[in-house]
Amino acid sequence: MPRTAEPAVGYTAYRRVVADSFGTWYGRRRDSWTGTDTNEAVTRFVCAEAPAPRAEGRRRILDVGCGRGRQTTALAERLDADTTGLDLLDVWDAPPPTRGQVRFRQGDFLDFTDDNLDIVVDNGCLHHQRRADWPAWAAHGARLLRPGGVLAVSVFLSPDGAISELPLDDGRLNWWLPEETVTDLYTRAGLTATGRQVIDRDFQYQGHWLSYLALSFRKAEG
Ligand SMILES: C[S@@+](CC[C@H](N)C(=O)[O-])C[C@H]1O[C@@H](n2cnc3c(N)ncnc32)[C@H](O)[C@@H]1O
Repeated sequence: MPRTAEPAVGYTAYRRVVADSFGTWYGRRRDSWTGTDTNEAVTRFVCAEAPAPRAEGRRRILDVGCGRGRQTTALAERLDADTTGLDLLDVWDAPPPTRGQVRFRQGDFLDFTDDNLDIVVDNGCLHHQRRADWPAWAAHGARLLRPGGVLAVSVFLSPDGAISELPLDDGRLNWWLPEETVTDLYTRAGLTATGRQVIDRDFQYQGHWLSYLALSFRKAEG
């Protein structure tokens, strides 16, 4: 059965837990999520939901929790965008884009302040955060968007409608989330739900076939 007790640590301490955990997984090449078909599906979803290009200059994208940066680069190329990949770890190793522009920054999402973004992408990051931090996480993403900008988030979809925590032994949380929970978070942050896609992971755990859920939200114009 999934464990349910959230570790009693503050945001900074938990951020270290997350960085150490992912550092170990990348170091051992256990980042099975990198470069997958499911990530390609999320990339296509983001491109389909993207706001129209600016009258002047490239669209500006933030890829939150970019990991190795493959998706950051794919988004820069496909949308001819000026894209920033942000991660707690400096593990990015994606080749430079053939179109658009990419820069990588090491740091925590809640410390990132470069706003006026056309698109914020969160592919697999929210569902590793402490539940207490979800509202601030969603509000921060909404704040970074320009009016008319789009936030796309992809999470582990709860197979049974429950919010399940599933922590790893090292303390990193893996939330399985129902659609209403995620939608509620971002609509409370002032955004409007605009799109959804369920992405099959072809992966079974504890008797459930698991999927990702990609959702998009738009910030009101003006
Ligand atoms: C499951 S991986 C997904 C990586 C990438 N988006 C992809 O799909 O290939 C989650 C990533 O989020 C990063 N991360 C977790 N919490 C973060 C935070 N608070 N700020 C920035 N990055 C974070 C981790 O270091 C990790 O690389």
